[in-house]
Amino acid sequence: MVDMNELDSLVTSARESFARCATPAELENAKAQFLGKSGRLTELMKGMAQLSPEDKKTRGAAINLAKQGVEAALTARRQALADAELERQLQAEALDVTLPGRARGQGGLHPVSLTLERIEQIFGSMGFDVADGPEIETDWFNFTALNTPEDHPARSMHDTFYVEGGTPEAPHLLRTHTSPMQVRYAVQHVKRHRHLIDAGQPMPEIRVIAPGRTYRVDSDATHSPMFHQCEGLWIGENVSFKDLKVVFTDFCRTFFESDDLVLRFRPSFFPFTEPSAEIDIQFQQGPLAGRWLEVSGAGQVHPNVVRNMGLDPERFIGFAFGMGPDRLTMLRYGVNDLRLFFDGDIRFLSQFQ
Ligand code: DAH
Repeated sequence: MVDMNELDSLVTSARESFARCATPAELENAKAQFLGKSGRLTELMKGMAQLSPEDKKTRGAAINLAKQGVEAALTARRQALADAELERQLQAEALDVTLPGRARGQGGLHPVSLTLERIEQIFGSMGFDVADGPEIETDWFNFTALNTPEDHPARSMHDTFYVEGGTPEAPHLLRTHTSPMQVRYAVQHVKRHRHLIDAGQPMPEIRVIAPGRTYRVDSDATHSPMFHQCEGLWIGENVSFKDLKVVFTDFCRTFFESDDLVLRFRPSFFPFTEPSAEIDIQFQQGPLAGRWLEVSGAGQVHPNVVRNMGLDPERFIGFAFGMGPDRLTMLRYGVNDLRLFFDGDIRFLSQFQ
């Protein structure tokens, strides 16, 4: 007798057994129970030996069919396990290509550096040279040469950082302004043109700006212990206060790109100029709109300073100014606290890119 139900349930039982296998190794074990040397199908084959040729044929065909069923189930399960393994690997090694990349931060110039570049460019176009000088100064260049002798009350206008080096009579200090560059530059210029001057021939005019860092013991919304100044100097045989007004007004209108910018020249005092003025500009925008901000000191260079440059004040005359690029930057961008420029906060600084 051929029990077909027995073969059907064998295939079903193989399929169920394979389905319970979670790994290829388990599946190979399960396969052996059905198709291996002493597996159930092999045993059935062996059991055909005693059958009649007639029965052998039918039984053989049926067993073969069952064998194909088991093999098909095995192949399907192998494939399913391989698919699952691949899927697991893909999950484990997944790269999220939608994550934003780690961009390299873009740097840029500090707003005050932008202002300094702009100042140099504008004065450069007016024929001014750009000079650089030391931040550690001597008492002579910072004060004495600028008509500010030792006991002069004007020295107390500056809260000076003194540094090591120098002597008690000639101390070293952090320059409190860029004005020492007037004398430093002029002395070099005069040295180069001494032969012309002595021969009574015209000397090429001194026309220079000197931007840089300056230091004072001072800190509030409009003062910082380190700040910037830009000195300006124009000396010739016929340079007047009128020229100062024209040059400075022209500069400011170009700098702020505003032809109707209003400047205020207020009479003032500086030891190194006579007459002296302070120059104010009005905030055009921002929280301080309408308020005046002092941006520069200026004046006609004092005869004693002209003398310290190595020139005869009876023949040479001119003007000087010392302006605050930090304050020009505040005005240009409507910033109301100077200290923001020096806090190094990227959220503030990145707005000027
Ligand atoms: N050095 C002065 C200061 O720091 C500013 C100044 C005033 C500079 C008048 C000048 C000038 O060249 O002529 O307060």
